[in-house]
Amino acid sequence: MNIEFVASPGAAGVLAVLVNEGRKLCGAGGQLDQKASGALTRAMNASRFTGGSNSTLIVAAPSGVEAQTVVLTGAGEADKFDDLALEAAAGAAYQAVKLSGATILTIDASHLTAQQAARAAFAARLASYRFLKYRTTLKPEKTPSIETIRIVAADVDGARAAWESFAAVAEAVEFSRDLVSEPANVLYPAEFARRVKGLERLGLEVEILGESELEDLGFRTLLAVGQGSERESQVAIMKWNGGKAGEQPIAFVGKGVCFDTGGISIKPADGMEEMKWDMGGAAAVAGVMHALAGRKAKVNAVGVLGLVENMPDGKAQRPGDVVMSLSGQYVEVLNTDAEGRLVLADCLWYTQDRFKPKFMIDLATLTGAMIVSLGLEYAGVFSNSDEVAGAILEAAPKVGENVWRMPIPAAYERHIDSPIADVKNTGNGRAGGSITAALFLQRFTNGLPWAHIDIAPTAWVKDSKNPTVPDGAVGWGVRTLDRMVADHYEV
Ligand code: BES
Ligand code: MN
Ligand code: ZN
Repeated sequence: MNIEFVASPGAAGVLAVLVNEGRKLCGAGGQLDQKASGALTRAMNASRFTGGSNSTLIVAAPSGVEAQTVVLTGAGEADKFDDLALEAAAGAAYQAVKLSGATILTIDASHLTAQQAARAAFAARLASYRFLKYRTTLKPEKTPSIETIRIVAADVDGARAAWESFAAVAEAVEFSRDLVSEPANVLYPAEFARRVKGLERLGLEVEILGESELEDLGFRTLLAVGQGSERESQVAIMKWNGGKAGEQPIAFVGKGVCFDTGGISIKPADGMEEMKWDMGGAAAVAGVMHALAGRKAKVNAVGVLGLVENMPDGKAQRPGDVVMSLSGQYVEVLNTDAEGRLVLADCLWYTQDRFKPKFMIDLATLTGAMIVSLGLEYAGVFSNSDEVAGAILEAAPKVGENVWRMPIPAAYERHIDSPIADVKNTGNGRAGGSITAALFLQRFTNGLPWAHIDIAPTAWVKDSKNPTVPDGAVGWGVRTLDRMVADHYEV
């Protein structure tokens, strides 16, 4: 997608104009309406379009207006107009005309700040994400036609300057969405690691640990998950040193189960294909590291990705196996489908031990129980630190990602105590399944400030109501973590 900032729309093919609730035309809209003798107002009055968020009205451009089509796009109540309302308006404009045949979408942001003009471009670009690489026979009328998003800005230079960091975040979200979209025959651990290694072009340092190194280091619970797979398990370590030399980093850890069959505790066939996106946590961590490097964030950060494939096989681990984790604690593996926590246990321990970070945040499509608790539009946050949890809870709603804090009561610890080992990988039947999973992870944090975000509900979306998040891979977490860093942890 080409992004351009211009001072005036010129002969725009499709021109999008923001409209506040009450059919109030914004920016150049009023003037256009005048030139067209009130035709835009008449079109609105003849329709149900009132300027509500995420609604649009397409009007064949009346004479006097230098465009073929005008898209009136809802910006909601004028006094509640914020970043998310702007993103929805720009995103909805894109969705309304993406298949129209037009190649350029011009959005009038002439009444907005440079930052807002850049944000409109950002929203339209996120809205335009499609994973089409395997669609070789897509009919022309089903193929998106918009190739250029052109933003009319009062301060063109300012908007171009502001665009730089938005572009970095958009690229990072796209990178994350691509990883999540890929099928597991294409994106196995070594291929994931290879793509992450490619991010060295952004100035990240990337280290890949293979199975022999992981065996030497003692990543036994991670390796136990991958031992039934033909594909080699990997750990990818990404470092971004944009802060002061020697300053303690912040750390992100991601569950990267490239496919989760459940292992010997095998999942039902129905819906198993969804487990290709069981690496959404690792994709989010890779994405946020991409964003930090892309916009040269002034922070030291590390990202650790645990990349495995959970398969049933003659070499697979069995229910009842006891495995020593990197922390030295023995884990009784009662259910091989509770594999994400085994991967994260070693990654969390390794991260705190090697990098001594200020805090660690892990992201994981960890439990079906999280979906039962919160439904499909909230991720759950579990934390031993009000400060770390608070930073996440503050950042997420600013970027349109919903989170809800969950408890991790000590009273439930007994549900993961094992009679034969130090800890077991399942809890009390189905009761509080996402909580017992979080309590399990907490035992591998060594008391460091830590938060766990269970993104099982939000990593993938099927009937999106958010115009900037098309159906499929969400890239959930990239924007929240990037925003959290920007707001709190850059020097
Ligand atoms: N990857 C799944 C969790 C999941 C389920 C994510 C649905 C997204 C959608 C995880 O590895 C898993 O299988 N968890 C089990 C844990 C149980 C065996 C204790 C679950 O949630 O059923
Ligand atoms: Mn599983
Ligand atoms: Zn899983």
